Amino acid sequence: MKRQAEGSDFARMMAELQKQIAEQERARYSVELIAEARNPRNVGRMDEADARAVVRGWCGDTMEFYLRLDGEQITEITFMTDGCGPTVACGSRMTAMVQGMSLEEAGEVAAQDLIVALDGLPEENVHCAELAVITLREAIANCFKLDATDDV
Ligand code: FES
Repeated sequence: MKRQAEGSDFARMMAELQKQIAEQERARYSVELIAEARNPRNVGRMDEADARAVVRGWCGDTMEFYLRLDGEQITEITFMTDGCGPTVACGSRMTAMVQGMSLEEAGEVAAQDLIVALDGLPEENVHCAELAVITLREAIANCFKLDATDDV
């Protein structure tokens, strides 16, 4: 009987803890960002990608993008990261934003565009959006490097 009471106390304590975590998360991050981080799109490495890039941010986290192209159009894009929730959200939202764009259009996407699309980021997470932009631009630059070697 005592063991059963301890079990329900523990379950109540865990439910309260989860509720507190969710409230803290909601106080820091937008609904949009939380939804994107919890259900990220286009996650994974791509076999035989036309271009890829991996960049490590100053925080020590890495972002990777893989691109499949039709001419200069991005037909498929995936990402991987070992970063925080906001970084996952930035990688995911970036893939959704640039799929179907030309390389030139995708290269013009700025961190601020990503931040607006996620309905805001706390100041301390702005670098997560910047890491996504820098990594995408590196992947785009690598596309042109591949083109250059194709001509040789
Ligand atoms: Fe490192 Fe988000 S904290 S990229």
